[in-house]
Amino acid sequence: MASVNSLSATIQQRVADALGADPLLRRSDRADFQANGVLGLGKRNKANPRELAAEVVAALPADDGLIADIEVSGPGFLNITVADSAITRTLAARAADDRLGVPAKADPGITVIDYAQPNVAKEMHVGHLRSSVIGDALVKILEFEGETVIRRHHIGDWGTQFGMLIQYLVEHPHELDHDSAGGAGDEEAGEASMSRLNRLYKDSRALFDADDDFKTRSRNRVVDLQAGEPETLAMWQRFVDESKIYFNSVYDKLDIAIRDEDVVGESGYNDMLVETCTLLEKSGVAVRSNGALCVFFDDIKGKDGEPVPLIVQKADGGFGYAATDLSAIRNRTADLRANTLLYVVDFRQALHFKMVFETAKRAGWLTDEVKALHIPFGALLGKDGKPYKTRSGESFRLVDLLDEAVERAGAVIEDKSGGLLTPEEIADRAKEVGIGAIKYADLSTSLGRDYVFDLDRMVSLNGDTSVYLQYAYARTQSILRKSGDAKPVAHPELPLAPAERALGLLLDEFAETLASVSETYEPHKLASYLYALASTFTTFYDQCPVVKPEPAPDVKENRLLLCDLTARTLRQGMALLGIRTPERL
Ligand code: ARG
Repeated sequence: MASVNSLSATIQQRVADALGADPLLRRSDRADFQANGVLGLGKRNKANPRELAAEVVAALPADDGLIADIEVSGPGFLNITVADSAITRTLAARAADDRLGVPAKADPGITVIDYAQPNVAKEMHVGHLRSSVIGDALVKILEFEGETVIRRHHIGDWGTQFGMLIQYLVEHPHELDHDSAGGAGDEEAGEASMSRLNRLYKDSRALFDADDDFKTRSRNRVVDLQAGEPETLAMWQRFVDESKIYFNSVYDKLDIAIRDEDVVGESGYNDMLVETCTLLEKSGVAVRSNGALCVFFDDIKGKDGEPVPLIVQKADGGFGYAATDLSAIRNRTADLRANTLLYVVDFRQALHFKMVFETAKRAGWLTDEVKALHIPFGALLGKDGKPYKTRSGESFRLVDLLDEAVERAGAVIEDKSGGLLTPEEIADRAKEVGIGAIKYADLSTSLGRDYVFDLDRMVSLNGDTSVYLQYAYARTQSILRKSGDAKPVAHPELPLAPAERALGLLLDEFAETLASVSETYEPHKLASYLYALASTFTTFYDQCPVVKPEPAPDVKENRLLLCDLTARTLRQGMALLGIRTPERL
């Protein structure tokens, strides 16, 4: 592992030394970089910025092999052009490193990330898509940066809704039996599980509505569940297990790995609930109000102007969602020793998390050393700009959406392949492209924003799509395959064409892009970097032939270096977003 200083970091340092202040270096269209910091310093020191800028130029070591040209422009900007040789040398250093020169964090912490949290005995819908896709990308990016990441799938596996289901199962014990052992693939097994759960839900609901005695027995069953009565718990466990078969099949399809040990649902905190309430009540953070245990906030009021409390325990003694989340915070900070808690959850839960975090702060569970952050995401919209729903107004089933994306991708690939791919190859690629398209559309949208779910656009070969990036990657591989015996070799002595410089400078920004993504938890910055990289590569490919027409051997080797580093950067970047990069398309 050898981390590489980026050109911008090195230049920033050089100019800072000469200026004695932050030069505020930026990429620029006029030269490679522009330093804007001279102006501010001039103002602060009552000095003429142009003169100051000229002094900086004079103070910089001439011919240092890094800066090819530096000039004063406008009221006191510095325009800086990097030497071609410096670009090539930096790229060679990145290419020599497995991590492409990306440094691992010097002081990694422990982050617990709460994402991919569907609900037991319920169908997964498009709302569960974003949490899973964004969370998975953040896990990968943070781990790559060296952070210790603990995943928590806070599934909805507890609550009064189970009373009716369990009671029905007790009375119809064979309803969840599996027809036959083996045979069915994961996908079929998942579908079969969900259809059993759906049927059971429907039947028990019908009985619940029609039969008052059953209603009473169901309510009693809730009491048994909360008391941990063994037979009831065993039945509840069957629902959880059945649902996991289904969840896993959907996550398989989504190409997201969920490990069993990371699934710690709401039920996982049951043992802590009473203590959590006692601690809150004793410390005065929570108070009794009409029998319920509540936390009040000055700035949170309802439409009527009355304060809206966070209810930790209901008047009937039942614990809700908030008690569980507060207990989870205690577990994640005290037991798991996290410094950062992330929650990748729908924006509609923003108020819930605001109240929960504030309560935890008052209780001393969140401190200056431990931060908690809700990472909200917006809704999926239909082309009409309204929430994405079926014609009858229901949520789309997530699996249907994924299947459709894969199908559309298959059509695009078949069309483009010109008969060169076998049906199996098309089917394989269709999964990588279709699922990639869904993930990319999600991850390229800035967090908090809604986006329109438009499959035609998402699998389009033109524009800001994953397929476009996958094609760019496949093209790099095709070039490398066709390059014969020639290998990527750096030739710093060669001048670079404009398209080569542009590509080189962008490749050098990968590490900084990742650092910024892991600091702000905004995967869309990585997506837009990769898109820029693919477009810049496409321009390079048009303007700078690598294999045909065949350039001079040293030029070819140097261009192969650019291709190879582009390929590896694209592949690594896409992998961090959870998107596959097929070798051929
Ligand atoms: N299961 C919940 C839902 O589907 C999301 C859970 C979010 N995580 C949490 N710690 N509250 O809405």
